[in-house]
Amino acid sequence: MILKGKRGIIFGALDEKSIAWKVAEKAHAEGATFVLTNAPIALRLGSIAKLAQSTNSQIVPADVTKNEDIENLITQSVEILGGKIDFVLHSVGMSMNIRKGKAYTDLDYENMHKTLDISAISFHRVMQECMKQDAINEWGSVVALSYIAAQRVFPDYNEMGDTKAFLESIARSFGYHYGKAKKVRVNTISQSPTITTAGSGVKGFEGFYEYAEKMSPLGNASSEDCANYCITLFSDYTRMVTMQNLFHDGGFSFTGVSYEVVNGAH
Ligand SMILES: NC(=O)c1ccc[n+]([C@@H]2O[C@H](COP(=O)([O-])OP(=O)(O)OC[C@H]3O[C@@H](n4cnc5c(N)ncnc54)[C@H](O)[C@@H]3O)[C@@H](O)[C@H]2O)c1
Repeated sequence: MILKGKRGIIFGALDEKSIAWKVAEKAHAEGATFVLTNAPIALRLGSIAKLAQSTNSQIVPADVTKNEDIENLITQSVEILGGKIDFVLHSVGMSMNIRKGKAYTDLDYENMHKTLDISAISFHRVMQECMKQDAINEWGSVVALSYIAAQRVFPDYNEMGDTKAFLESIARSFGYHYGKAKKVRVNTISQSPTITTAGSGVKGFEGFYEYAEKMSPLGNASSEDCANYCITLFSDYTRMVTMQNLFHDGGFSFTGVSYEVVNGAH
């Protein structure tokens, strides 16, 4: 029960495969109470109501690109939960250009703006609004999910690589300001490829899922493992960790080459 008495907001649970779904289940098991949120359209398409029921939580719809939605979400969450918040999970990502099948060298910039807005700027928007409303308790923890394409090139990850680099940079910059102002910590978790709706939408996903599996001494980290890691970051056991991009990838990020990859190469 390491989250006993803690209150939170969890963005991005769409269906049972979603990383946010697993985080919600674990946070509930660890004694937290929270509000679930997703875009109005995702609420219609997904199965979040089931999760709300099993975790005894309420759903507040919010499109992360809309200031008024985020403002309302935060006000409502504090009200519903009966006090300030201790943790936020930002588990939101979408690439308009990937969705439209545009190559990295032929991007549509309108789409790119939307991608940046949904997948990176929204992280800033949420924290800025939380700060304005003074909605997060001291030593609160804010976590977003990232991917190693922020540091290295994965050709089919397309504009999301640049978007994740931006996301990680926001975690550092806002982490500084929120730390100074309210002792709130801000981190990103760089997760292994994971079979979810967003993950599988990337062209060639199966290829790099299998490659990462072979490259990682521990194998790919599952969404359940990722959820466990999120819980530790929401807990009081990691109070001095902030402004970090934390690799949660079974060792992939620091492996130069593996026997499996070399032996499979010829
Ligand atoms: N799946 C992977 O391989 C992988 C690896 C590393 C990081 N991540 C990151 O994990 C996070 C969660 O993705 P996931 O893999 O669980 O997939 P997912 O598809 O289950 O979750 C993505 C969520 O973003 C939400 N979303 C999209 N547009 C939105 C908007 N305008 N407003 C509010 N919500 C919106 C979707 O409804 C969905 O719930 C993303 O940031 C993703 O980039 C995923």
